[in-house]
Amino acid sequence: MRPWISGTGSYAPAKVLTNADLERMVATSDEWIRERTGIRERRIAAGGEACSDLAVQAGRRALEAARLSATELDMVLVATCTGDYPLPATACVVQYRLGATKAAACDLSAACCGFVYALSVADAYVRTGMRHVLVIGSEVMSVITDWTDRNTCILFGDGAGAVVVSAGEGMDGRGILSTHLRSDGQLSELITVPAGGSRNPSSEKTIAERLQCIKMKGHETFKVAVRTLEEIARETLAANGLSVDDVDLYVPHQANVRILTAVIERLGLPPEKVMFNLDRYGNTSAASIPIALDEAVRAGRIKAGSMVMLGAFGAGLTWASAMIRW
Ligand code: UT7
Repeated sequence: MRPWISGTGSYAPAKVLTNADLERMVATSDEWIRERTGIRERRIAAGGEACSDLAVQAGRRALEAARLSATELDMVLVATCTGDYPLPATACVVQYRLGATKAAACDLSAACCGFVYALSVADAYVRTGMRHVLVIGSEVMSVITDWTDRNTCILFGDGAGAVVVSAGEGMDGRGILSTHLRSDGQLSELITVPAGGSRNPSSEKTIAERLQCIKMKGHETFKVAVRTLEEIARETLAANGLSVDDVDLYVPHQANVRILTAVIERLGLPPEKVMFNLDRYGNTSAASIPIALDEAVRAGRIKAGSMVMLGAFGAGLTWASAMIRW
């Protein structure tokens, strides 16, 4: 009995921030951003719109697609690095607002890999007895973005995506075939939010120095991302006895089109078998893969039986993959 994905949903805030808007904020150009990242625009949460607001919308849509009531959920997992509060967990806010009265709830912090890590947790719980787990990746990256730093502010966007992982009796070989999770904390300094935790509690000084915002060594991160995404994709294919020809759609974390192009060239995957939507959303961290999955399902690019490979990397550093026969 293999857990499977019984429904997907996503939500993006209404406000669109274009590259032309960014040209008016920092010394950059639409051309530089498009050529170096592939991003044209990103969504930004309205003032007062928090992580759980986005997560609830995406979660509702996934439940509708799965034709499930929230009361049937055993667990709500929210992958995020931009939760509503340090505590309680954003998942508890979502659990209450969805009416998931019988569900456990907690957050998972693995930055851009959060969704794939949470999917693997859901997979394990469903394999060991739970019936339905709602997995949401939701981020309001705009609140931890330094809007004066052109190296990072052009990259990120806000959004949420969700899937329901369900017990899969009678699914005839469909479901989550494998997950692979990795980390290397030695590289943790590549992407950090230096203040706001117990190491550097927020103070007037940390706020004045914008240490509650993302700092990133983009160039080094780029190189590690290409290497780790390729490695974990090869490991995933080998573990399942598959070749790239067997993959119908690769759904990677949407960070930079040049990273993804380098990875798929190394793997020998044609671009038509890859889901790209970062031109419209930028990097939405833990939300990027479930948003892309939902768009691919609704566009008919993923159908029952499709072989779908996920690949993620991010702060930590962490990297992760999953193979799903949809
Ligand atoms: O999901 C989290 C994981 N993070 C990532 O995936 C990010 C990975 N890294 C990247 O996507 C790329 O490294 C960036 C898009 C962040 C930067 O691209 P790059 O090709 O690595 O550029 P660079 O950092 O080497 O900078 C090249 C030049 C620099 O100027 P000089 O020093 O050569 O004169 C930068 O100052 O580009 C300059 N630059 C910009 N110019 C115009 C940096 N940001 C901008 C900008 N507009 N927004």
